[in-house]
Formats: sequence, C-alpha cells, structure tokens
Amino acid sequence: MKISVIGCGYLGAVHAASMVSLGHDVVGIDVDPSKIESLSAGRAPFFEPELPELLAAGIASGRLRFSTDIADAAGSQVHFVAVGTPQLKTGGGADLTYVDAAFTSLLPHVASGDLLVGKSTVPVGTAARLAALVEPTGAKLAWNPEFLREGYAVKDTVTPDRLVYGIGPGETASVDLLNEVYATAVAAETPVVITDYATAELVKVAANAFLATKISFINAMAEIAEVTGADVTQLADAIGYDARIGRRFLNAGVGFGGGCLPKDIRAFTARAEELGRGESVAFLKEVDAINLRRRQRAVDMVVEELGGSVFRRKVAVLGLAFKPNSDDVRDSPALDVAVQLHGLGANVVATDPEAIPNSRRLHPQLTLGTLDEALDGADAVVLLTEWNQYRELDPAAVAAQVAQPLVIDGRNALDAEAWRAAGWTYRGLGRR
Ligand code: UGA
Repeated sequence: MKISVIGCGYLGAVHAASMVSLGHDVVGIDVDPSKIESLSAGRAPFFEPELPELLAAGIASGRLRFSTDIADAAGSQVHFVAVGTPQLKTGGGADLTYVDAAFTSLLPHVASGDLLVGKSTVPVGTAARLAALVEPTGAKLAWNPEFLREGYAVKDTVTPDRLVYGIGPGETASVDLLNEVYATAVAAETPVVITDYATAELVKVAANAFLATKISFINAMAEIAEVTGADVTQLADAIGYDARIGRRFLNAGVGFGGGCLPKDIRAFTARAEELGRGESVAFLKEVDAINLRRRQRAVDMVVEELGGSVFRRKVAVLGLAFKPNSDDVRDSPALDVAVQLHGLGANVVATDPEAIPNSRRLHPQLTLGTLDEALDGADAVVLLTEWNQYRELDPAAVAAQVAQPLVIDGRNALDAEAWRAAGWTYRGLGRR
C-alpha cells in the first residue's frame, strides 16, 4: 500500500521504516529539515536497535523516502499521524499543538476514500473532534494507538502483541484498510480489538497508567522494606510467582522516566479532571509522587554512605538514559540523580554507552566521560541505568580502580552477593 507517516520522531521514524519492511511504499514527512536530511541519508536521528538496518534497506529498495513537504502525502491511501504530544509547559495536560497542526496541514492533500490514522497518544475526546474536521474531505479517521517500547521499537511495531482500531460508527472500510496495512500481523493471528475512538484513546493511557502504577507499587514496597529490614527484590520475586500479579515491571529502583509514562499519567489526570472525574485517577498523583521520591532516596543514600556530605567526593554515575538500550534522557531518573549530586557539590563523573550527547545538551555543567574515567578513584559508584555492560562488571576488577569500594545499586541489577564477596559495601534501594 502507499502510506504516508506524518511526524518522524521516535514513533514515526520507526513506524515508517517498519511499514516498508512489511512490503508497503512509504513517505515519511516532518517539519524538521535536519531530521529529514538524516533519515533520507539512512541515518537514525536517535539510538534504536535494528532501525539503522531497516532504514538502509528501505531506502535502497526505493520504497522509503522522506520529505519536509506535506504535499508529498498526496497519493497515499493511508496517512499515519505520529507527532508528539508533550506535557504542556503550563501544567500536566497534553500539548496538542503538533497534532492539530499535522491534521490541518494534511487535510488539503487527502482524497475521498483515504484513511487518516492517529497514532499519537492523545486525551480522550480528541479523535471525535478531529473526525469532524476530516469528514468534509470524504476521508475517514481511525485511532490506532502504539504500544512500542524504546529499545524494542522495531520488533514491537512489526510483531505487535495486539492491535487496537478505534473507528467511527459503522466504518468497516476503515477496518479493511487497517487489516491490509497490518496484513502480516493479522495473518499471524495477532489479537485485534475493534472499537470506538474513546476506547482506543483510553486503552493507550490506561496501559501506561497501569505500568506506571505497577512500578510505583513495588517502589512503595521498597520504602516499607527500607524501614523494616525486608528485601524488596525477594518480595517482588515471591509475589511475581502469582500469575495474576506477574514478575514483569516489578523492579524497584529509581523509578520510571522517559517520554511516555510520566507525561501520560499527568495528561490522563488533567483530562479526568476536565471531565469531572478527577477522583477516579487521583491515585496517579500518588504514583507520580512515589516515583519522584525514589530519585531523592538514591541521592540521600549516597550522601548517607559518604558520611553526611558528598562535597568534593568523587561519584561515578553509571547510566544516564531513562532505561537501557536507549539514548533517551527525557525525564530520566538517572540524569536527575546525577544533576542533584552535582548540585550538592559532588565531583560527579557520569557515563553512558549511548546517552552522553543528549545529556550534555541538557546539562552542560555535568562532567561526562568513559566508564574508566568515571570509575578511576571514585569514592562511590552509583548504578542508575542497568545496561548489560554495567551488570556484567567484574566487582574485583572495579574494586582495584576505585578509591573506596562503595556501590549504590539504583536499579537492583547487580549481584549483591558477588559484590560483597569482592569487598564492596553494597546498597540497593529497598534491600537489606
Ligand atoms: C512505555 C510503554 O512500556 C510502552 O508500551 C509504550 O508504548 C510507550 O511507553 C509509549 O507510550 O510510547 P518506554 O517509555 O519505552 O515504553 O519504556 P518502559 O520500558 O515502559 O520503561 C519506562 C520506565 O520504567 C523506564 O525508566 C524503566 O527503567 C522503568 N522501569 C521499568 C522500572 O523502574 N521498573 C520496572 O520494573 C520496569
């Protein structure tokens, strides 16, 4: 099929390249010329495993191109809108400027019978409002939320665990078109939920709210564990064996960050309040508060272990990205902790396999270096993003490098026994 993808950020760039790999003919459109230049040259503007290969193959096939001109969307039968919906600067709500601009600029170029598909995460009610704008063109609107995880974005797009189609009343032709777009996944019997706009919009924010709640739940248990001498990791293992609970997303530590979970729970809260149902999701404010407290707890633990002050003490920060396999530092707990320690006068040397350029752009005051530069002569080692290369560090070798064998495991990702056996003082969040 001929497909256009409006917005070539994280979601859009991955979506465009993945659609080509499924056999479609795709034009990706973005207002940012540098992004388009990079993508057109087959370079991903951010770190995402498998994406560079997919981009290169797509461009070589002649079925993937990028443009800054929205008129190039004309001629495509399906138009995906995948622009960002960041948090408003003035509050917790979602900023819909980019979504509105994308639809307004796209509409003059669509033909009767085309399908416009919203993928952006939007407040419930947005699709119904946009459908009224689309209607006079003779095109249709569907809402098809995306559940991809950074670090696994290509896999999650090409082989999703479910598909959700939010369509207008009786618009079965939209379902047929979406089934054609996702023919490979549909043939593989991927569950497809066909529903209305409001449900589709809510599915997305409900999923992220649930995941955020699960993480904050275990982090709340970590807080209780800390005052009772219990161990949150064993607790998570034990409750996780109950299939109704499950062990995934029960890792306690410095909590969630990124471009999705934090802003989505805030936007959901703001929208529920607008709808007069603020109390229904009031718990999400607590989820947010627990999450932010864990960053502070990590900072306090470093201060505590260094005898009450970090001033002029060298702290090695391992990890800056909001999670491994990503260079994304948006609302990153790791970067936040590094900045706070720096603010307390510590000589922080932070490292990350991929996120140094993005961290430097946001916080030029931080000293960023290699793993060895961080570890050499450190008074404390703080693990904040659980990249495999940090999990696999040899505690005996690292002990010979640092000034003092003190490790704070902000992700509960290290083998505590092995580190202790190598002479380290090991502290985890919510652990004995
Ligand atoms: C999240 C969702 O998982 C995706 O399904 C969704 O499509 C995406 O947001 C989105 O809305 O676009 P992502 O932001 O890539 O994906 O990251 P997650 O893998 O969900 O991790 C979020 C944060 O939670 C990370 O900072 C991670 O370190 C933290 N986390 C995760 C924990 O602290 N503990 C855990 O047990 C799991």
